[in-house]
Amino acid sequence: MSFYEDRVLPHLINLACSTKPQRKQREKIVHLAEGDVLEVGIGSGLNLPYYEKSRVRKIWGLEPSAGMRRKAQPLVDETGLDVEFIDLPGEEIPLEDNSVDTVLITYTLCTIPDALTALHGMRRVLKPGGTLLYCEHGVAPDEDVRRWQDRLNGGWSWFSGGCNMNRDIVSLIREGGFEITNDERMYVPGPRILNYNFWGAARPV
Ligand SMILES: C[S@@+](CC[C@H](N)C(=O)[O-])C[C@H]1O[C@@H](n2cnc3c(N)ncnc32)[C@H](O)[C@@H]1O
Repeated sequence: MSFYEDRVLPHLINLACSTKPQRKQREKIVHLAEGDVLEVGIGSGLNLPYYEKSRVRKIWGLEPSAGMRRKAQPLVDETGLDVEFIDLPGEEIPLEDNSVDTVLITYTLCTIPDALTALHGMRRVLKPGGTLLYCEHGVAPDEDVRRWQDRLNGGWSWFSGGCNMNRDIVSLIREGGFEITNDERMYVPGPRILNYNFWGAARPV
């Protein structure tokens, strides 16, 4: 891992993911998590303050970047939530089948190289009746915005540690073996190429 990836990128990602619109989005979705939770790509732990403490037992915080896990630790300590980090990528979830009540993923499906394999893993570990909660940015509904997303995606991805701005999030989740039960979408404030947000819930099928 390069110096940029380990020491610089975690600070940049933490800053980029801390905007007011993103905080509002986190507020809408994270409090719905319950029971044993797997958070995929927990990053710098920005969702932790939004968990409803009385509803969650344990949080498995899967995060392959040591730099991001280091950044998350102060928030783990501050919130007092029972968080156990998993030092692996989302394509290699090591938990048992049918073992978690909620999978939470925010602003990470854009980055996981093999998002479909990761989604199949999330479905595998969810208990029957469990819920996938998601909040992501992705492909815009407007053709002119989509064209710019496609043009700029390569350079953006290099700069941002693998983020893609043009993924069709809801189609990916369906392809990963889920039925969407709540589907909300809108542009949140900020550059439109990066800020078409998808959030909601899905159940394994
Ligand atoms: C834009 S950040 C979002 C972090 C956090 N979920 C949030 O909402 O602030 C994307 C995260 O995905 C992580 N990531 C990169 N590759 C991954 C993979 N293969 N599986 C899971 N997470 C990955 C990155 O290390 C980073 O922490």
